[in-house]
Amino acid sequence: MAAWWYFLWSSYYIDVLLFEENDIMKKGIAKAVRIIYEEFSAFHLRLVIVQMLVFLLPANVGSRIRVRLLRLIGFEIGNGTVMWGMPRFVGKGDIYGRLTIGDGCWFNVGCHFDVAAPISIGNTVAFGHEVLLLTNSHHIGATDQRAGPLVAKPIVVGSGAWLGARCTILPGVTIGEGAVVAAGAMVTKDVAANTMVAGVPAKAIRELDVYYVHNAA
Ligand SMILES: CC(C)(COP(=O)(O)OP(=O)(O)OC[C@H]1O[C@@H](n2cnc3c(N)ncnc32)[C@H](O)[C@@H]1OP(=O)(O)O)[C@@H](O)C(=O)NCCC(=O)NCCS
Repeated sequence: MAAWWYFLWSSYYIDVLLFEENDIMKKGIAKAVRIIYEEFSAFHLRLVIVQMLVFLLPANVGSRIRVRLLRLIGFEIGNGTVMWGMPRFVGKGDIYGRLTIGDGCWFNVGCHFDVAAPISIGNTVAFGHEVLLLTNSHHIGATDQRAGPLVAKPIVVGSGAWLGARCTILPGVTIGEGAVVAAGAMVTKDVAANTMVAGVPAKAIRELDVYYVHNAA
């Protein structure tokens, strides 16, 4: 009789352990994996090391050191480009492969590159202080969560352009070659080449003269 009760109890216990609790365990593991992915998919060890190495460099000092270190960890940055402060790079996955910067560019302090989609910057482009390049946005969602599913679109900045301090470039925008974006502008649409834009949202102020100093024919 005791053996019979033992058999019944143990088969019940095995059932709970192997099936019901296992199901709970599987859900728990899946949740833990999701949380770990969410927390660490934007962690870039090489970038963290470089950020720590240049942490003590004051602004405007070591502008070429920052560039060399970023190149060393896999960013494609052309010759003669300088960074007077370390830009902030954010994004998940291969951010190194999504950013290309040409030759002879200047980056002022506090620039922010959201590299969820590719960012392509031409040659001799100048960035003012705290320029914000945003490749990420959301589809408009339901009333209780308007920030719906993520959508990422590339940004292109043509050669020779000048982006004034604290301007914001939204996802999908192309800044034409030789364009000027005034300080504080909010650029929501493509900017034609050799055009100056300003304001929120940015509007064309005037067309700029076209002449060359770097590649004079
Ligand atoms: C864009 C900029 C270069 C314009 O210089 P400019 O050709 O001399 O233009 P003007 O000063 O003649 O201004 C032309 C018009 O644009 C307006 N304007 C200029 N800069 C503006 C700005 N940042 N936002 C909104 N409007 C602006 C002016 O008010 C003027 O409007 P009006 O014709 O109605 O009077 C300059 O205003 C600017 O934003 N510089 C960036 C500074 C910076 O980022 N420094 C960091 C160093 S990289």
